Amino acid sequence: MKNVLVVDDEQDLRELLVNRLVRKGYDAEGCSSAEEALNKLNTETYDLGIFDIRMDGMDGLSLLEKVKESDRKMMEIIMLTGHGTIETAIEAMKKGAYDYLTKPYNLSELEVVLAKALEKKQLKEDHDTMKEWMHTKENSFEIIGTSQEIQSAIHLTAKVANADASILIEGESGTGKELFAKALHYWSERKEAPFIAINSGAIPEQLLESELFGHVKGAFTGAQKDKKGLVEVADKGTLFLDEIGEMPLGVQVKLLRFLETGQFRRVGEVKERQVKVRIVTATNRNVEEEVANGNFREDLYYRLQVLKIIVPPLRDRKEDIPALVRFYLNTKKKWQGTSLTEETMEALMAYDFPGNVRELFHMIERGCLLCSDGVICVEDLLLPNTKGPEQSFGKKTDKAEVVKRSLEEIERDHMAQVLDSTNWNKSEAADILGISVRNIYRKIDHHGLENDRD
Ligand SMILES: Nc1ncnc2c1ncn2[C@@H]1O[C@H](COP(=O)(O)OP(=O)(O)OP(=O)(O)O)[C@@H](O)[C@H]1O
Ligand SMILES: [Mg+2]
Repeated sequence: MKNVLVVDDEQDLRELLVNRLVRKGYDAEGCSSAEEALNKLNTETYDLGIFDIRMDGMDGLSLLEKVKESDRKMMEIIMLTGHGTIETAIEAMKKGAYDYLTKPYNLSELEVVLAKALEKKQLKEDHDTMKEWMHTKENSFEIIGTSQEIQSAIHLTAKVANADASILIEGESGTGKELFAKALHYWSERKEAPFIAINSGAIPEQLLESELFGHVKGAFTGAQKDKKGLVEVADKGTLFLDEIGEMPLGVQVKLLRFLETGQFRRVGEVKERQVKVRIVTATNRNVEEEVANGNFREDLYYRLQVLKIIVPPLRDRKEDIPALVRFYLNTKKKWQGTSLTEETMEALMAYDFPGNVRELFHMIERGCLLCSDGVICVEDLLLPNTKGPEQSFGKKTDKAEVVKRSLEEIERDHMAQVLDSTNWNKSEAADILGISVRNIYRKIDHHGLENDRD
């Protein structure tokens, strides 16, 4: 419902107008003076104001000026003039009023002006959202970091962005592989065409093939109409295949053929189709190992990694941590102005971040939520307590005993702890651990972990 504020010192007229607007479905309120209106405007937002020009105390023109100077400038204003000359009305328009009506005005005339003013406001809002959206879109692949490690990855990315060869992006979970994939797209001449991302590991084989290459009606149960594949949707643009190491073997064959010829067939169709798509793939694990184990085709692997971009783990470029923290706090409107104590920054610099940038961002988000007075203290970070010298001294664990624990045991214990701390929210736990959701299910199974509460 649209909110309208009616400001008029003549009670009868004001009430008549407010009642009429309420009956017409507006959420209308009246004020008997400009001063009262300003007070209300401090706490409430309105879509539209209807101000009488001549009032005792502050007049309507000054009220208009104040509104337009304030952060309420999105509000559209219609002026009412009784005794005024056309000059006052023109002055009001110059000061930013949407329109004016001369008293006695006709109520249906008012309604038309009102509807138009609201329409204009909507347009302005849409435009603003659009601008904001474009802004975030442009910045969503801003890659922060001045370290030698990240800078050389950035340089390589910029250099090969325009090439046609497929690119493999390698890096641990949360290092920013998807960010680099976007950069490859937006820093190239393909940037006006689509950037399409798909997780090759999360989708069953048959579905993945039809997602990538499309299908025709009746190709399989559930294929009720023809469907374009993502390679067609991404034509002239970039198709980003995430977690390529998990791609089923059957789809690997089709992908290889597509890479070699640019041709493909929709599932259930004989016709060959041709598109031009830049293929970017990413993996957070050793695909060579998968190749050795026979889970990944060697020929495809060589084809995909003609050019390889390696995104370094955060622990190898700790100098980037402060800038990343600042970037995160600045992009999150609600956390702007939050700061960290020196000790907190030192703790971050000392931590290894197995979940890389994603883990850092989560930690800062948590810190913002937990901290008081907008200053994040070390405790607010909830650093995993396996780290930090005090804690390990505090536990007084026998060193020999620690050494005897296998990596398996440590992983199991840590997973159990994280799962408990997230109330068995698996995607949250996967985020903290820096692994995929698919992986966390696998590991829960592997370690025989169970949710006692289930
Ligand atoms: N250098 C960076 N500058 C700014 N933001 C970054 C940077 N690196 C990573 N991020 C942010 O960290 C988060 C994780 O990055 P991204 O999703 O690209 O990681 P990933 O390597 O694809 O992880 P995964 O292997 O789990 O899919 C995102 O929010 C991303 O925007
Ligand atoms: Mg990713």
